[in-house]
Amino acid sequence: MDLGIRGKKAIVCASSRGLGKGCAMALAEAGCELFLNGRNATALSATASEIRQRFGVKVTEIVGDVADPEVQKALLAACPSPDILVNNNGGPPYRDFRELDRAKILEGVTNNMVAPIELIKAVIDGMAARGFGRIVNITSLSVYTPIPGLDLSSGARAGLTAFLAGVARTVANRNVTINNILPGKLDTDRLRGPHEPGSVEDPAEGAARRARLSAEVPAGRLGTPEEFGQICAFLCSVHAGYMTGQNIPVDGGLYVSAF
Ligand SMILES: NC(=O)c1ccc[n+]([C@@H]2O[C@H](COP(=O)([O-])OP(=O)(O)OC[C@H]3O[C@@H](n4cnc5c(N)ncnc54)[C@H](OP(=O)(O)O)[C@@H]3O)[C@@H](O)[C@H]2O)c1
Repeated sequence: MDLGIRGKKAIVCASSRGLGKGCAMALAEAGCELFLNGRNATALSATASEIRQRFGVKVTEIVGDVADPEVQKALLAACPSPDILVNNNGGPPYRDFRELDRAKILEGVTNNMVAPIELIKAVIDGMAARGFGRIVNITSLSVYTPIPGLDLSSGARAGLTAFLAGVARTVANRNVTINNILPGKLDTDRLRGPHEPGSVEDPAEGAARRARLSAEVPAGRLGTPEEFGQICAFLCSVHAGYMTGQNIPVDGGLYVSAF
């Protein structure tokens, strides 16, 4: 299917690995020019090269913490008029909420709620004026259902979701949409749990971990960043203009609900 977004400019935050990278790849496949971001310059450059080589699109790299106002400024200086914004960031580490002091709670809220709102504030009026905009936020299934140790993640992302539910309706008549994708169990570094960046998992341990997690999912497997990315790209397509303010679990049926 032609997504109708060839040549559109897309900022994809936190996109050197994992789900952000999956979204970037799918948008590149659809012909978008990309503005990628991540803190580790080497990983970011490797992903940018891979995408240029595979899809032949222009890719600009913006290194740094996406919650840092200076990095946000750099992203917007590189791409002042994006057509597409994919908000993503690392998630808070697993922790009993009793271990969270005020600084840690504010950090989680800043990373997973405030930063995406700041970026949306910066781009939404331009999108509305141009009559096209697609904003996708990568949140978490923890918005719908508690996950032990991820209370901060749930709270910050639920805050983002509620905040944007009203905002989405204010720009729907300008062909600007805001939707959230809620990953369940997708096979990325994040799902490996605490680990050294760039560390390689023992293959036997990895297989056992995948089997254990897969057994909890009705689909019987973990999702892939590639299939996640294709759903994001569809939400960014010309075909998805009548769909806004929605939360879309991508979870192999993990969230059990009739509605
Ligand atoms: N995978 C899942 O099953 C799952 C489930 C529920 C929710 N989620 C959420 O989905 C989001 C993406 O998860 P993932 O699995 O793709 O994680 P991941 O595999 O750990 O990848 C995270 C990506 O974000 C970048 N990043 C992290 N912190 C950043 C920051 N402050 N500024 C800029 N870039 C940053 C990382 O690069 P650098 O480290 O180089 O910055 C990397 O490219 C997270 O918020 C996660 O909590 C994932």
